[in-house]
Amino acid sequence: MSAEAAGIHTSAPGVATTPRGEQNHGHHGLAGAPVPAPVPSTHPDLAEILVTENALRVKITELAAAIDADYAGQEVLLVGVLKGAVMLMADLARALTISTTLEFMAVSSYGSSTSSSGVVRILKDLDRSIEGRHVLVVEDIIDSGLTLSWLMRNLSSRHPASVEVVALLRKPEALRVDLDVRYVGFDIPSAFVVGYGLDFAERYRTLPYVGTLTPEVIAAG
Ligand code: IMP
Repeated sequence: MSAEAAGIHTSAPGVATTPRGEQNHGHHGLAGAPVPAPVPSTHPDLAEILVTENALRVKITELAAAIDADYAGQEVLLVGVLKGAVMLMADLARALTISTTLEFMAVSSYGSSTSSSGVVRILKDLDRSIEGRHVLVVEDIIDSGLTLSWLMRNLSSRHPASVEVVALLRKPEALRVDLDVRYVGFDIPSAFVVGYGLDFAERYRTLPYVGTLTPEVIAAG
């Protein structure tokens, strides 16, 4: 995501209050408050690590166990939303024991410089029909939730047997939209985060953890 599209000036990095797991729409109570960790000296651009490598590993194992139990005996089509969901897709898919196939979509959200409008353009569509399939959308992060709302409507119109969502991260704003997210890794504060697939101007996606950037890095854009 670009600095502008990220609306970074409206969401300063740093830990604010943490939303509670009970706002998880009555589904799996997996969303937990991440425990910040010290930043390694090898990554001076980061202000704080919000979700460590180990916390990611543990959470993905938990998510996979819940998904395995819910879809036991069924085949699931995992739909990853590029590019941010690539890391989660790779780790989650390997942690699942149920039968899965993989597809990817790329979408771009039109909006003002600071927010997603919910008007979405498909940059890369699915390669095949999802009719009659159990679809599980794999998302990196839900911010306003507008992109995902649009995607859910779009996928539902293709007559799948079911469509659910697994999102690694969720910001508080997402709780304000009517969005049924079945599996959530972590509820995080409204800070702009990078790593584990998430970018700032296409950088930092390959960090193995999720963290916030220093104000200097953000200002330099
Ligand atoms: P939404 O429509 O506002 O929910 O937009 C969600 C998309 O915005 C995500 O799939 C990310 O690509 C991007 N995004 C939202 N918050 C962040 C962030 O903190 N870091 C990096 N990308 C983000």
